[in-house]
Amino acid sequence: MANTNYSTSLFSTNLKFSDENQYGAELSIAGCSAAQLVKEFGSPIFVLDQDDFFMRTNAWRAALNTSFGSGQLYYAAKSFICVEVARWLKQLKVGLDVCSGGELAVALAAEFPASDIEFHGNNKSVDEISTAIKSAVGTIVIDSFDEVERVAEIAKSLGKIQKVYLRLTPGIDAHTHEFISTAHEDVKFGFSIASGAASEALDKCMSYPSLNLAGVHCHIGSQIFEVSGFEAAAMRLIDVLAKFRDQHAKELPELNIGGGYGIAYTKGERAIAPDEVIPAIAKVIKSACDKLKLSIPKISIEPGRAIVGPTTTTIYLVGTTKSVTLEDGSIRKYVSVDGGMSENIRPALYGATYSAFLANRSSTAKSISTRVVGKHCESGDILISDIQLPSDIKIGDLLAIPATGAYGRSMASNYNHIPRPSVIAVLNGSAREILRRETQADLLNLDVIQAPRQLS
Ligand code: LLP
Repeated sequence: MANTNYSTSLFSTNLKFSDENQYGAELSIAGCSAAQLVKEFGSPIFVLDQDDFFMRTNAWRAALNTSFGSGQLYYAAKSFICVEVARWLKQLKVGLDVCSGGELAVALAAEFPASDIEFHGNNKSVDEISTAIKSAVGTIVIDSFDEVERVAEIAKSLGKIQKVYLRLTPGIDAHTHEFISTAHEDVKFGFSIASGAASEALDKCMSYPSLNLAGVHCHIGSQIFEVSGFEAAAMRLIDVLAKFRDQHAKELPELNIGGGYGIAYTKGERAIAPDEVIPAIAKVIKSACDKLKLSIPKISIEPGRAIVGPTTTTIYLVGTTKSVTLEDGSIRKYVSVDGGMSENIRPALYGATYSAFLANRSSTAKSISTRVVGKHCESGDILISDIQLPSDIKIGDLLAIPATGAYGRSMASNYNHIPRPSVIAVLNGSAREILRRETQADLLNLDVIQAPRQLS
């Protein structure tokens, strides 16, 4: 059954423009106007539609439950996490996928139940693994032969038996940007199925009494729209589980098929919805298990972007504008906003595209070719290379860029010593900071002025 609330556009559910002409009108999110929010909290700000976050989390979980009867949803913390969001996830009773000691620390600070945490990463340090095991993290996803040993030894030294998955690379070439495609053969992550490394690693895990091998995992990449990639990966993993059963006379009970579900970033795009992709994956898993006489494993998924991405809109203040005449004689307007590649590196890093909207007033001016740029000292600091925006955009106007919730704040930097923006959660007309804006004092706090000392 379609979840009618689930918006597959780039907008969060409670984002509204004050008139029909939504591309130049006063914008509000959950009843809070962009202008009011900037007045209260400054700019730029990430505005997170809390109700939309809850709705999307529930929709992914519901799709799992409907398709499989049960299952485990892990929210991928790397897409965006802070203590308050971890508290929401705890309240929603879903799991959390963390991939560093830092993300784990946020979860623990939120008193997130450790047993619902899954710990990823291709190079977890001894400290990170020890902290994870001491904190009684539910599952550690092992990524390499070195790590099989490392996790086994640390668990043994702590007198624990640690539940683990192995991350496998199913050899699927997901159609997405190379840097976010993770399951073809030539990548740093996981054990290749095709080369036999996966089966060798599974055998190796079985030889350590301090490891409780519970299942296998794969994540084929990110921002993927084709259901077929997920289906093919699931089938290859089911094959691995069947071979394991044949060799070890034991079934591994769990299968994690990762995240990566694509969302809309621009007006023309449409997100992949949970109730289209999960039933399709369930169908291939069920039929493969049936054919191979394998019990259907407990399925888990790890969406990050698909949950938090569309919940958040960045609001910027326009600081300067200029027009340039291009070689073909056409005019391009440059609109500079008060952020840029430091809080949204995705256009510069992946060539990611976004849409922008005038957010503080209506405009009936004709639209012109506009380039939205940041305030950083390099010409590649471009948020949107070419978009039609009202020609009268001027200093003091607000621009909104939707769908910035995933990998925006979480990949933000302090380039040019620009403090990272705050995240404001909005709900039913009220607003609160859930991550405060960094200050110049925060940044200066890191500077150390001291005499050099001899290392012993
Ligand atoms: N699980 C694993 C093991 C992952 O590595 C990732 C993302 C996810 C789940 C969540 O994927 P999602 O559902 O959010 O697509 N910085 C890039 C994305 C990198 C994704 C890394 N891993 C971007 O801005 O597009």
